[in-house]
Amino acid sequence: MENKRGQWGSSFGFLMAAVGSAVGLGNIWGFPYKMGANGGGAFLLIYLILVVVVGFATMLGELALGRKYGRGAVGTYAAIGKKWTWVGYMGVASGFFILAFYSVLGGMVLRYMVGFIAEMFGMTGFGGLGSGEFFGGFTTNAGSMLIYYAIFMVLNIIIVSGGIEGGIEKFSKIAMPALAAILVVIIVYVAVQPGAGAGYAFMFVPKFEAFATNGFFNILRTAAGQMFFSLSLGMGCMITYGSYLGKEQNLDTNMVIIPVADTCIAIMAGMAVMPACAAFGMDYGRGPGLLFVTLHEVFSTGMGGFIGSLMGFLFYFLVLIAAVTSSISLLEVCTAYLIDKKIEKGEEPDRKKLTLIIASIIFVVGIPVALDGLGAGRAGGAALDIPATFLGITENIPMAVDCWLDLYDCLAEGIMMPLGALMMSILIGWVLGTKVIKDEVEETAGVKLTMYKFMEICFKFIVPVIMAIVLISQIMDFFG
Ligand code: PFF
Repeated sequence: MENKRGQWGSSFGFLMAAVGSAVGLGNIWGFPYKMGANGGGAFLLIYLILVVVVGFATMLGELALGRKYGRGAVGTYAAIGKKWTWVGYMGVASGFFILAFYSVLGGMVLRYMVGFIAEMFGMTGFGGLGSGEFFGGFTTNAGSMLIYYAIFMVLNIIIVSGGIEGGIEKFSKIAMPALAAILVVIIVYVAVQPGAGAGYAFMFVPKFEAFATNGFFNILRTAAGQMFFSLSLGMGCMITYGSYLGKEQNLDTNMVIIPVADTCIAIMAGMAVMPACAAFGMDYGRGPGLLFVTLHEVFSTGMGGFIGSLMGFLFYFLVLIAAVTSSISLLEVCTAYLIDKKIEKGEEPDRKKLTLIIASIIFVVGIPVALDGLGAGRAGGAALDIPATFLGITENIPMAVDCWLDLYDCLAEGIMMPLGALMMSILIGWVLGTKVIKDEVEETAGVKLTMYKFMEICFKFIVPVIMAIVLISQIMDFFG
């Protein structure tokens, strides 16, 4: 069974793949602006505490369950008990919907990277338009959106088809060090620009008054939601990656290294993005528009010239790497489900074929995300209506139906992921017992679970409470 499913070739390879999954659009896009808008250093403090009390335990739980049962999300929960299988299905469904919109965004990143390459060689990579105009034109152009979306999905299919060691690991081992190197180059370049300082201040100066203005609970839930999305937790991704781990791999250290690396990269991404906006007088409080509109302007108008195009290319290349190493893990969650099913039936799984099938279905489901102009709808010149119009909801439009991306995100990140993390911690803390996790960690010769007592408290109390808070407040927010 082991051979049919595949296995990581080395500890370093696994680490790069797992950190690659964690480091994604969430780090480079979500983290800096959420941090800036929610109290800067005060947000960071809460985020770091959450990584320690929720992130470590959830990471450990997923990796240990995956390795113990040697199957993907569905297989693992089914092995725990037939009545928990739905938790696994929810994980696969989350991966499915996240990948659908994540790949549309990935395709957009690719378009921006291509644009800056063209600009570097003296061509008009963006049709000579300003960042806002270009964004509006591009996102409502069905053909362009679909083409870049398709290319991004094909990239994922190629890598995941290659298997665990020969595809995902091989790619991540090259991509992740490259990402780190590019990030350092950009941070250094940005740091020497006059006026960069205000960006660091926006990010790091603790604004505790935000606890009063934004509400402490709001900040807590934003940080918690960001944290487990960023760590790829709550949907069985780390269960799936854990299922390809050999018993010689040390879970006691990996449960710490992966979250710490992810957090460092998120902070570093902020140190590239925020000061860059500050130095060129761009508004960094812009929220989601940051990645495309604001940063495009920073590179093309702010920095300008060849160096601006070069930095723009490097930046979007970096974001592309981050997006691909994450999206392949989402696809792997879905592919692993199909592979496990074949093996269960005693059939030979054809990874290439199964990957192609599931990715094609996901591609179709993601098409609405690519066609509604990210919320512009037909009224705004896009090819497709937003979900609210589509579904005939006209009064008091809830947030989640104002564009297809938000709708998918709400289903997956808003509901299924926190519910998945909640269920996993309850299962480990109260049904299976934390000893199961400890025993799995200690299967590795010479390894002891160093923080066992602390982990027990996390599984039993802290993770369930925090996840319940996130879940309830997301539901209230989305359906409000
Ligand atoms: N961690 C990724 C990010 O920060 O962008 C997103 C993600 C990947 C979430 C894989 C969940 C997952 F299973």
